[in-house]
Order: sequence, then C-alpha cells, then structure tokens
Amino acid sequence: MNRREIMLGVDYYPEHWPKERWKTDAEMMKELGIEFVRLAEFSWSKLEPEKGVYDFKWLDDAIDTLSEYGLKIVLGTPTAAPPIWLVREYPEILPVDSEGHVMGPGGRRYYCYNSPIYRELTKVIVTKMAEHYKSNPHIIGWQIDNEFGCHESNFCYCDNCLKAFQKWLRRKYKTIENLNKAWGTVFWSGEYHSWDEVIIPRKTVALHNPSLLLNYRRFVSDSIVEYQRIQVEILKNVTPDKFVTHNFMGLFGGVDYYKLSKDLDFVSWDNYPKTIWGYDSKDTALAHDVMRGVKEANFWIMEEQSGSVGWPEMAPAPLPGEIRLWTYQAIAHGADAIFFFRWRTSNIGAEQFWHGILDYDGIPRRRYKEIKKLSEELGRIKDRLKNTIIKNDVALVYSYDIRWAWETHPSIPKLDYMDIIKRYYKALFEIHVPVDVINPEKPIPTHYKLVLAPMLYIVNEDILKNLERYVKNGGKLILTFRSGVKNWDNVAYTEALPGPLRKLVGGYIYEYSALDGKHKTQVRLSQSAEFSVEKFCESLIPEGSDVIAYYSSGIYESKPAILKNKFSSGEVVYVGANIDCEGIKEIILSLLPEDKKIFNHLPSNVEIYFRQNDRKKFIFIMNHSAEGKTLETGLKGRDILQNESVSNILSIDPFGVKIIEMLG
Ligand code: GLA
Ligand code: ZN
Repeated sequence: MNRREIMLGVDYYPEHWPKERWKTDAEMMKELGIEFVRLAEFSWSKLEPEKGVYDFKWLDDAIDTLSEYGLKIVLGTPTAAPPIWLVREYPEILPVDSEGHVMGPGGRRYYCYNSPIYRELTKVIVTKMAEHYKSNPHIIGWQIDNEFGCHESNFCYCDNCLKAFQKWLRRKYKTIENLNKAWGTVFWSGEYHSWDEVIIPRKTVALHNPSLLLNYRRFVSDSIVEYQRIQVEILKNVTPDKFVTHNFMGLFGGVDYYKLSKDLDFVSWDNYPKTIWGYDSKDTALAHDVMRGVKEANFWIMEEQSGSVGWPEMAPAPLPGEIRLWTYQAIAHGADAIFFFRWRTSNIGAEQFWHGILDYDGIPRRRYKEIKKLSEELGRIKDRLKNTIIKNDVALVYSYDIRWAWETHPSIPKLDYMDIIKRYYKALFEIHVPVDVINPEKPIPTHYKLVLAPMLYIVNEDILKNLERYVKNGGKLILTFRSGVKNWDNVAYTEALPGPLRKLVGGYIYEYSALDGKHKTQVRLSQSAEFSVEKFCESLIPEGSDVIAYYSSGIYESKPAILKNKFSSGEVVYVGANIDCEGIKEIILSLLPEDKKIFNHLPSNVEIYFRQNDRKKFIFIMNHSAEGKTLETGLKGRDILQNESVSNILSIDPFGVKIIEMLG
C-alpha cells in the first residue's frame, strides 16, 4: 500500500446491520470504487461482552466478507465508548465536571484520561485486539480511540486528575516556591505551601488565577497525549507493520495537535464542512492547513461528509457538486486517502440524522451517484497526483498555548484568538495565497517569503529566537496588536508592550484601548484607502521604524497605527489595530513578491491551491459559489480532469473544480 496515493474509503458499522447484508455492502463499496473501510471504533460491548470474555468472530466475519472484495481495513480501538458492564464495575472511570458532579454513563467518551484503572483496561482490550489481528494481512492500520476531547471530554476535574495535575506541576516547576513566584499566587491569598495544596480549577466564585487556568489546559492536553501513547506503544509493539493514526478534529482547540501527532505515523481528521453551525469554505481550508501543519505532512480524511449532518436536528444537505468539491479541496490541501462517513445512514442511536452515502433503506441515490462519478474521475487522475505534496511560500503561526492563554484570560471582550487567525487566513484565501500553518516553537524555515504571526499574546524564549532568526535571515514578518503581552505563564510583562518583541517591532505601545463600537475608528494606510478597526486599537511610538499608517478617526486619531521596521536583512510590520480583512490584504500584498500575487484578481470565492513534487506542479482551482465563472488565469497547462489543454481563459461550473498540470 502506498499511503501517498489518492484513495477512497468508507466508515462502516457492520454491527449495526444484519449479517446477510454485509456481502451486498461489500459489493456496492467495490462498485463505488472504495478501497478502504474503517471498522469497529465503537464496538467494545460486542468485542468484550463481559469482562474477560472476548468475541472477535463477528468482526472476523465482517473483515472476511470485505476482504473478499479486496477492501483493506483500518481498525479502530474501541476505547471511546466503554461498555456498560465496565462502568458498573469501575464507576471511578467516570469524568467529573467542574462543579464536582460525576458524569453519568451513556452516549460516549465518558471516561477520565487519567483514570489508572481505565488505562489498565485500555491496555487489555487494545492488546487483545492487536494480538488477534497482528497477522491479518487485510488490516493495514489502526485508528486509536475516536476524536479525543470531543464533547469537551478533555476536561475532567476528578481526584485522579487533581493528583495527576499536582504531579505534572511538580515535574514542571520543581519547587512550590517556583510555582508561587511564576503564577503570582500572592494575589488574593493564593499562596501554596506544598504540592498537595494545589487546586484544580473547579467551579468557584470568582475568576481563577490565569496561570492556573492555562497550565490546567496544558495538563489536560498532555493527559490525552499520554493516554494515546499507551495505545500507540502496544500497537507498534504487537503490529509493527501497521500504521497508527487518530482522527483529529481540525480547528478543535482542546488538545495540542502538534504534540498529539508526534507519536502517530500520520494525522487523519474528520471533515464536516456544512453543519447546523454553518458553512464557510475558508474555515474548512484553514482546518486542512492546520491538519497538514501539525505534522508538516500530508494527511488522511478519516471521516468526510457525505450527506446532511446532525444529531437530533439536521443541517442542509450538500448541494449537487459539493461532495466532489469538498473532496478535491481536501486533496488540494494535502489529503491522500478520504473516507466517507458513513456508508449507510444509521436508523438507530443518536446519529440517525447524520446521513451517510446511502439512506436508511440502503438504496443508492444521488449521493452514491455523485461519489461514483467522483471515484471514476479520481481513478483516471490519481496516478498523476501520486507522491505530490504541498510546498507553500507563506506561513501562518498557530499556537495552542497562545490560544489557551487567550481563552482563559482573553483581555478583549467578544474576540477569540481563532477570530483573528481566521481573519488573517481569510485575507490570504481571498487573494489566493496558499499558506502553511506553523508552530512558532519550532525554527521557522527560511524559504518562507512571508510569515504572519497574529496575536502572539504570550511568548517564550523559543518563539522570540525563532522569529528573530527568521527575520535576520531576510524574512518578512507580520505581527499584530496584543502580542508580547504576557509571559508563558500567562503573567503580564512589566515592560512597555509589546514586551520582548519591542526590538523586532522597532517601537512600543504608548497606550491601548478596547473598543465598544460606539466610536468610529479607522486607519489610513499611506496613499491608500481607510480601513475600519474594531474591538481593539493601540497608539504606537516608532523607535527607528517607519509609520505606515495613522489613525484617521477614533480615540487615537492622527497617532501611528502600523509600523514597518527593517530588522537586520528582514522586515517586520506591526499592525497595532484590529483592522478589517481588506486592510490586512493590503498589507500582505505590499510585502509579497510580484510572482506570488498573480491570482490576486480572481474572485474571492474561487480557491487556488497547489500540489507538487520535483517534477510536476498541479494547480487546483475550486469554485465555492453556486455561479459558474469565467476566469482569466494567465495559466498554460493541461486540465487533467477534462484532459484538454488550457491557455489563459478558463470557465468553471458552479461548485466546479479544475486541476491544471502546469507546463514547464
Ligand atoms: C464524529 C465522530 C463519528 C460520528 C460523527 C458524526 O466525527 O468521529 O463517530 O459521531 O462525528 O456525528
Ligand atoms: Zn479525571
């Protein structure tokens, strides 16, 4: 199996359907062009109906049936849904909420990651499964558990977690005096005298110490990473020839995905673009880039939307063409295999309105037909895309620690860290500049022409060093308001802002203000239009940098708003106001080399992305609107979907996709 090939899969639950149907399903999957099937990730009660009594027969039979049709299997370990017998015998595995209530069993994910007994029971079932399937050639790999942290199951406040948190802190701070000092516990009489006094942030009367809150978020994430590692170690040990992955959740912020992905062979994730919460193709694009960025590699989609989704209620169905568009969008951003969720809509349980490829009745209709056409089309082009990856020139900094510091103590009302990340991403998306998402704690590769690092609310030595080194080497960097405000413990710097970033910025903040929207605030970029500012603005003092924008209205009217600093052989732009997306685009365009702006004129809802290797480069053009478009692309190449040559003008259908193999 080449993991770098574009292949399709499905998520299948044979245990939900009569055995007599399995063969038909396998046949239909084959006919649909499916090559992979994920199984078993919620089937613990069937695999171990009673403690110590195992039944793999049904799963063996299902695997046999599927493999008769050449389908390859990814097995889920079943730990996301412990069986009822288990929780009755070991009620101490149940998570405790922040108010101290023990959660009841039911639904799924009702276990504490730090429960010693749950960890032991996990080892037993995972080892059993691994031993049972280790020499089965049809099984290519494992998915561990299912969506760690989903339903906010990352948070637990039980006594096991409390003790584990105290231990985690002790490892980190060594002495209680260090912790007291780092967290400023003298505030409100919070000083600790020993490790066992340290609290976990259960619900209390007033706001907890922000350093406690941030470190709790880190601890929660580390607990999940540690829990996952227990499973990785067993699987790698017993079945070293099979891959190990986990299904991530895109923009979910409960776990540090940079860390979670380290122990895995590759990242896979669950992509549901159109839910009851809405639909924005840019957010999906960003999620793909985060998923590629956390391990700096191509990824799989372990669950891809194939119908209308919802639990008690459902969102609108994908419009004709959207399933295909989403699949190509995933591929464009680095997805290799794509599994559709789910094969057949479940007529039982909580997810009865989360539609799959087939409806309850198992009869193929529009969605099946659309996927069939798609798989035939992919069959024709997949050899060309084999072993291609994504190499971008622009990077966007994204940090879980910064996100958590912001979430626990945000400083600006109604403004999320993710709002700003999404706003800067949107600007790039709309001017058609593909971007890599990067971890600021790792050295920044110097091939990037531009790095955007919005809102570095907390910073540490590594981040400072990495940014400085990148700029010194000639890099261009965009920093924004609310950067260098606090240290890595969520404690504010006592120097003028932006704290340790001052030299890089070539200036400092004289004064700042949150904005409630009652007074118009704008900035004017020299010789260009005015851009509106919302929620926050800073009045800047340059120290060797150039002022490239002043406020033209609002509390800081006529004061500097944006600075541009030459730093060694690089350049830093500091945006001291939360300006609108148009303003951000203007700044990005002023810093990009000419050859990176060639698609700037294309409509903003047409997406451009590239996949390439040393020999070939493919440009994906994706129309996220319901109107067909005629585009002047300036491109010369071959449209590999239509198999015809292209030169400059190109028309694209509503929700259409073009993949152009570039010449030269
Ligand atoms: C997630 C889960 C699946 C299923 C779908 C639909 O992505 O991984 O098990 O629950 O959502 O709800
Ligand atoms: Zn717990």
